[in-house]
Amino acid sequence: MKPKILVSRQVFPEVLDRLQADFEVDYHDVDAPLSPEQLAARLADKVGAITMLSDRIDASVLGQAPHLKAVCNVAVGYNNFDVPAITAAGVMATNTPGVLNDTTADTAWSLILSSGRRVVGADRWVREGQWKGWKFQDAWLGQDIHHATLGILGMGRIGQAVARRALGFDMQVIYHNRTRLDDEQEKACHARWVSKEDLLKESDFLVALLPYSPQTHHAIGAAELALMKPSAHLINIARGGVVDDQALIEALKTQRIAGAGLDVFENEPALNPGFLGLDNVTLTPHIGSSTRKTRLAMAMLAADNLVAALSGQRPPCLINPEVFKLAD
Ligand code: GLV
Ligand code: GLV
Repeated sequence: MKPKILVSRQVFPEVLDRLQADFEVDYHDVDAPLSPEQLAARLADKVGAITMLSDRIDASVLGQAPHLKAVCNVAVGYNNFDVPAITAAGVMATNTPGVLNDTTADTAWSLILSSGRRVVGADRWVREGQWKGWKFQDAWLGQDIHHATLGILGMGRIGQAVARRALGFDMQVIYHNRTRLDDEQEKACHARWVSKEDLLKESDFLVALLPYSPQTHHAIGAAELALMKPSAHLINIARGGVVDDQALIEALKTQRIAGAGLDVFENEPALNPGFLGLDNVTLTPHIGSSTRKTRLAMAMLAADNLVAALSGQRPPCLINPEVFKLAD
């Protein structure tokens, strides 16, 4: 008999085929999350699960899933996992780093360009029929991206991919990270380490790329926004909660900073209504990794993780290796 697994959301048919070759799949064939109660009920007899960032895996769910050996998230971020609880339950947890770096870096750049040159606001204005004649000193004077200073808060693999793209725009790149990159990595992305305070003060475009955790909650709030240049733009493609949305709304409303490009939000998909009336913010619905090729690669990597975990091998992207050692 094949091991029983849950796939918590609709995935590409190729991924389902791959999983069905090895497992008896309980498939939630809908692109919407199960409720916490449904999730727990469907995990009750499963040894593995493919999960999404909308699935909370915590002690309560784990307590109702006594056979579970592995939970494999289709995302690089895993703040939907209570990792200590998963580890305590002896369950392997995996994510999908790497395969989405370039796509997510492209998304950061689309928001940098869109925010700096006000593309989305201008598009809206044209559609509203407000364009009555070409103007020299028009309402759409933006910020230059070329030769500006790009700041990156959280210099992981995605941050480095964002930085490498800045070379073509002749930008200066600065970053802040708890641990500095080594010389070779800094050289590869032409980036210079600075303190968080200097990063906030000097960046023309500041990209937040911190993983979300209690330690990074509101890493950019009112005090940090107050240090930024009035001409600066803030880009968040990391996680809602890394930025204090209400403080950002105030900063945008009072033009304390010039603009923002946001792909993630506190309490998403619910949006703080304060964003809606502002024309200096670009809003996208958490599409950082959203190309077909990359979402497929992420789901396939999650499937690889699950296949390895349930066949006694070390999954390629194991978050809690101590569990594997225990099981060995
Ligand atoms: C998406 O947000 C991810 O973490 O992969
Ligand atoms: C995570 O933030 C990464 O850069 O892989």
